[in-house]
Amino acid sequence: TEYAHTAEFYDFITPYRERQDVSFFVEMARQTGGPALEVGSGTGRVLIPTARAGIEITGLDLSPSMLAVCRKNLAQEPEDVQARAQLVSGDMRNFNLERRFNLATLPFRPFQHLVTAADQLACLKTIHRHLNPGGKLILDLFNPSVQFLADESKLQEFGDEAEFTMPDGRKVLRRARIAARDYFRQVQDSELIYYITHPDGRQERLVHRFQMRYLFRYEAEHLLVRAGFEVENLYADYDKSPFGSKYPGELIFVAKR
Ligand SMILES: C[S@@+](CC[C@H](N)C(=O)[O-])C[C@H]1O[C@@H](n2cnc3c(N)ncnc32)[C@H](O)[C@@H]1O
Repeated sequence: TEYAHTAEFYDFITPYRERQDVSFFVEMARQTGGPALEVGSGTGRVLIPTARAGIEITGLDLSPSMLAVCRKNLAQEPEDVQARAQLVSGDMRNFNLERRFNLATLPFRPFQHLVTAADQLACLKTIHRHLNPGGKLILDLFNPSVQFLADESKLQEFGDEAEFTMPDGRKVLRRARIAARDYFRQVQDSELIYYITHPDGRQERLVHRFQMRYLFRYEAEHLLVRAGFEVENLYADYDKSPFGSKYPGELIFVAKR
């Protein structure tokens, strides 16, 4: 899961830039009034708009390179926005910030980097301890598509994203592959493959390989309840369309401590 060599590309990836989830998370943060905790906050894609909206937010991430990109992004913001955002290096399975929040979020599926039930429970219990009574958790997962899981063509490189250009002139094309599937552990090994052309013509190929566990609806619900949460809402999308209204859709839980 270490994003070491590819963190610098994250904010340039078209499907990440175009994700329609930011206003959903900002609106939830507004409703709770903050302070908010984003677990797996990455480059600040959601954290920074939340701080801009006037909400105090702490971002926790394990990757030094993602934290570094986020720090750089934050440094471009006005002082009041910077003052509302705090970054912490930590592991979502076990951290202690010695304070409590009214909202905890895991936008864009960081939770699925945890591949054992023990790690998943440790994470949810740790978050539970960091919420005020009545505080909310938004657990953002993808809803596994049975067609995708069975699609053998995904074992070969695929992707139709356009090439993008970095500020230093490197051209980058990203493709993907499912490198391995374990139907018993519900884990897929994903590869994000970056083809880089340097301004001097040199070619480079970087592979970011990581594991993701898929969770079905009831498994996630049972985990939340075991960790002490009460499920309030379940959405198929960030426009709050109800789970079941489209397939596969997302698996977005709003739960309460
Ligand atoms: C797909 S990114 C999501 C980033 C951000 N929330 C967003 O919506 O753009 C997943 C993030 O989870 C972080 N992560 C993975 N495992 C982690 C762990 N055990 N503890 C904390 N962060 C972790 C990664 O470093 C990465 O920044």
